[in-house]
Amino acid sequence: MAIEIVDASERHLPGITAIFNHAVRETFSIWSESETTIDLRRTWMAARRVAGFPVIVAIDPAKPDDVLGYGSFGTFRDFPGYVKTVEHSVYIAPAAQRRGIGKRVLAELVKRAKAKGLEAMVGGIDSANAGSIALHEQAGFEVQGNLKGVGRKFGKQLDLVFMVKAL
Ligand SMILES: CC(C)(COP(=O)(O)OP(=O)(O)OC[C@H]1O[C@@H](n2cnc3c(N)ncnc32)[C@H](O)[C@@H]1OP(=O)(O)O)[C@@H](O)C(=O)NCCC(=O)NCCS
Repeated sequence: MAIEIVDASERHLPGITAIFNHAVRETFSIWSESETTIDLRRTWMAARRVAGFPVIVAIDPAKPDDVLGYGSFGTFRDFPGYVKTVEHSVYIAPAAQRRGIGKRVLAELVKRAKAKGLEAMVGGIDSANAGSIALHEQAGFEVQGNLKGVGRKFGKQLDLVFMVKAL
C-alpha cells in the first residue's frame, strides 16, 4: 500500500476524532478520560492552522477519507521565549500500527518544523510508552526530562518523559 502524508482537511476529521478517542479510552498516551467530538477537533485544527501550525494525516490514496494516522505540532509554552520550540503529537490507528507510518508522520513534522525555522521539538510521552519512546529515539530525539508523578489517569499516577530534538 502506498501511503501518502497530506495536510488534513474537513474530510479527515471523523478519522482523527476516532483515533483520538481510541487513545483516550484504551491507552495512557493522552492523559484525559474524556472523549472528544468532531466539532472540538474542527476547532482545534482551525486554531492550529490560524497559528501557522500543521495538521497532517497518513492516507492510502485509494481510500483518501480513511485516516491511518495523524500528527501535528503547536506552541510548547505560551511565552515569547519559546517561540522557536514546538510540542508535537503522533497517533496511528491501531490497525495501522507497526507499518512504518508513525515514522513517516514524525519525519514529515520534523521537515515542516525545520522549514519554519524552528529550533527544537518536544514530545511529552508517558514513561511506560515504550513504542513511542523507541520511535522518537529512532528519529533522533533524546530524553531530556523525566517528571515523576505529574499525571493521573484511570486512578494511576503517571510519569512524563520529555524527548527533545534540536533542529
Ligand atoms: C507510538 C506510535 C505513534 C508508533 O507508530 P507506528 O506507526 O506504530 O510506528 P512505526 O511502525 O513507524 O515504528 C517506527 C519505530 O518505532 C518503534 N516502535 C513503534 N511501535 C513500537 C512498539 N509497540 N514497541 C516497540 N517499538 C516500537 C520501533 O523502533 C519502530 O521501528 P522498527 O519497526 O524498525 O522496529 C503508535 O503506536 C501509536 O499511535 N500509539 C498510540 C498513541 C501514542 O502512543 N502516540 C504517541 C504519543 S507520545
